[in-house]
Amino acid sequence: MSISIFPTLIHYAPLGTTKLIKELKKEAYQIRDYDKEGQKWCKTNYPGGYTSYQTLSSLHTFSSTFETLEKSIRKAVKSFSKKLQYDMRDKEFFMTDCWVNIMPKSVTHPMHLHPLSTISGTYYVSTPKGTSSITFEDPRLPFYMAQPPRPFRYSITPKAGNLVLFESWLRHEVAANQAKEDRISISFNYHWR
Ligand code: NI
Repeated sequence: MSISIFPTLIHYAPLGTTKLIKELKKEAYQIRDYDKEGQKWCKTNYPGGYTSYQTLSSLHTFSSTFETLEKSIRKAVKSFSKKLQYDMRDKEFFMTDCWVNIMPKSVTHPMHLHPLSTISGTYYVSTPKGTSSITFEDPRLPFYMAQPPRPFRYSITPKAGNLVLFESWLRHEVAANQAKEDRISISFNYHWR
């Protein structure tokens, strides 16, 4: 027999109602249009796309729609943390950041992790045909020495209305969006106390 130890877990499951998704999509564009400073930042740092990461990154405190989303995500984070075997007795999770991403065709998001956070993730609001995947990298990669080739990446092609959760140290990227329409998502970080 073989035993799996220290597995890397990813949560991927539906969340929210059609009404919530529709409202989030509407607000995503309202936020972009309102956030002139963010648009300026994106010109240099997120070519072709829009993210409120640098300018409006507490959307859960900004809009009741995002507040509703946060409550649902927090429940999912709590249940995910049980699978991760975190000891959360007398402790709780809280969202530290929440921002929106609008990726038109060809926009990419290079490999990164979410420093100083515990659990991070993305909620998908709009995923037109051809939407690019989110790809995770094997966290053991820096330790490989004489291993023969084997898969070291895992991709999920997300569908709108689904939530992805992962531990914040897990590196991930989003390839160039191939869809003609915008790929819209909401990303976030959780910490604990
Ligand atoms: Ni990320």
